[in-house]
Amino acid sequence: MARLAILASGSGSNFQALAEFLKDGGNHQIACLVCDKAGAYALERAAKLGIPSRLVSYKGRPKEDAEAEIEDYLREQGAECIALAGFMRMLSARFVSAWAGRLVNIHPSLLPKHPGAHAIEASFRSHDGELGITIHYVDEGMDSGKIILQKSFSRESTMTLEEAERKIHELEHLWYPQVVSDLLSNF
Ligand code: GRF
Repeated sequence: MARLAILASGSGSNFQALAEFLKDGGNHQIACLVCDKAGAYALERAAKLGIPSRLVSYKGRPKEDAEAEIEDYLREQGAECIALAGFMRMLSARFVSAWAGRLVNIHPSLLPKHPGAHAIEASFRSHDGELGITIHYVDEGMDSGKIILQKSFSRESTMTLEEAERKIHELEHLWYPQVVSDLLSNF
């Protein structure tokens, strides 16, 4: 059994998908959620799911301080692995190397295409025939770590941005929990 921490900044739908999958799977546990945005819906989801959470603000302090607070909390909660799920901050090289091999992210495009924020819109507005998701290890770059899994679908000519978004989130919620659960099984 291994314990997973999730870092999120926003709605937390991937956090919830991970929590529900791991709860039903039985082998592993969600240790905690860390969120850097006050009022983010992810925090409310954690409360509803009965998962410990901590708001760690980056405001008015060096990134290193915020990261040290995150790591103290992860240690307290016994987290062995981290899944980023819409966490909108770059982690320092020190943090990334301390968690190497135990730190993954999900990104809503077929990397290396469209890294960074607004990837769904960028993919949709591009002429790419395939849209999709990437699950990858995190390195110190922007969405540049080693790819673990990609899943895609062909874009139909009539597809709207909202439909593309919905399909991408469906893929995320289906595949991220499975990949993370496999990763946890190696610990
Ligand atoms: C997802 O699309 C994820 O791929 C990206 O940020 C979004 C987070 O959504 N990194 P949610 O907060 O999990 O609903």
